[in-house]
Amino acid sequence: MEPLRVNAQRLWDALMELGAIGETPLGGNNRLALTDLDRQARDLVIRWCRGAGCEVTVDRIGNIFARRPGKDNSLAPIATGSHVDTQPTGGKFDGPLGVVCGVEVLRTLADHQVETLRPIEVTVWTNEEGSRFAPATLGSGVFAGVYDLEFAMSRQDTDGVTIGEALRAIGYEGEREAGDHEFGAFIEVHIEQGPILEANGKTIGVVSGAQARRWFEVTVTGQDAHAGTTPMERRRDALLGASRIVTEVNRIGAGIPDGRSTVGMMQVHPNSRNTIPGRVFFTIDLRHHDEAVLADMVAEMREYAAGIARETGLEMVVDEIWTAPALRFDERTKATIAAQAEALGYDAMPVVSGAGHDACNIATIAPGAMIFIPCADGISHNETESATFEDSAAGGNVLLNAMLHLANER
Ligand code: GLV
Ligand code: MN
Ligand code: MN
Repeated sequence: MEPLRVNAQRLWDALMELGAIGETPLGGNNRLALTDLDRQARDLVIRWCRGAGCEVTVDRIGNIFARRPGKDNSLAPIATGSHVDTQPTGGKFDGPLGVVCGVEVLRTLADHQVETLRPIEVTVWTNEEGSRFAPATLGSGVFAGVYDLEFAMSRQDTDGVTIGEALRAIGYEGEREAGDHEFGAFIEVHIEQGPILEANGKTIGVVSGAQARRWFEVTVTGQDAHAGTTPMERRRDALLGASRIVTEVNRIGAGIPDGRSTVGMMQVHPNSRNTIPGRVFFTIDLRHHDEAVLADMVAEMREYAAGIARETGLEMVVDEIWTAPALRFDERTKATIAAQAEALGYDAMPVVSGAGHDACNIATIAPGAMIFIPCADGISHNETESATFEDSAAGGNVLLNAMLHLANER
């Protein structure tokens, strides 16, 4: 029997409609978590899901669940989903692709009046990006019990607004207890955000797992002083000390095969052109697929920072604020994805995710896996991030058939 296929044009149109909310000049999206634009995107997805015949609920941390009943609703649903928040210079695909593929599964099943044994569920997870509120993948983390609700609700943005306040402001603090139900399996569709599928001419990545990461916040304190009158040897320039650490962080990642190391955010105080900076706050993101290697990277960074503090007399506080372990996805779910990709005639290969995903949290409580499609030049977290019409449809088709297969198993 020919496998069922999604409506590729409708899937693409939905992606573009979602991408019009918070669109940036270069065609990307700036839709930070729990802003009014995030609300608009959430409202749209809920409208689509209700239109496909689903009941929609929201939990305390704002995660959204759209459920399509099965023949036996005592069985755990087969679920999919992703996020609709973006980076400040995000693209139209990182997150929305996975949500829209889920919506398209609901619509295709409705079109063809397909009944599944298990219920099907589509989720939208809160604050995946970790850009406005750290850490990332927070909503799925609360659902999976990786973080407790109180911790999540109290996270603040740089203006001191908490997640709890932001949720209430956009009307998305739901009633449902986070993590109150189980999944039979969870599959997330996502763009690869790296260059491997494109370089190998493959359409589908069967994601084997994700690398570990550790996040740090560093505060360097020196002394504000006059730029014109303070002799060079008397300065305690916090930015100068921070800059040396930035360079070292880059060297650490570059010096190790598969190492990744980034300083992505920095605040300079008082940020005045004729005052020597007395305080600098910045973030460090270190990643590796091998946790032992990552631990060595962390030790090297800490040792270097301590050395700079000793040498310069600057005060240096390095706080570790988050760690996400390396993860392997579920073998059986991966095998289902690979088999459905083959049945649909798509070239597939295994890939490791360099990025973190909500699926990584959910995989700690349910059989989990991910489907990647290529993105142009492997570019992501960039307004020009792009994936093709055909590859987006391929992601939707593999998801549809993998979910159908799992949803008809007891
Ligand atoms: C999520 O976007 C990440 O930082 O990996
Ligand atoms: Mn994402
Ligand atoms: Mn992202």
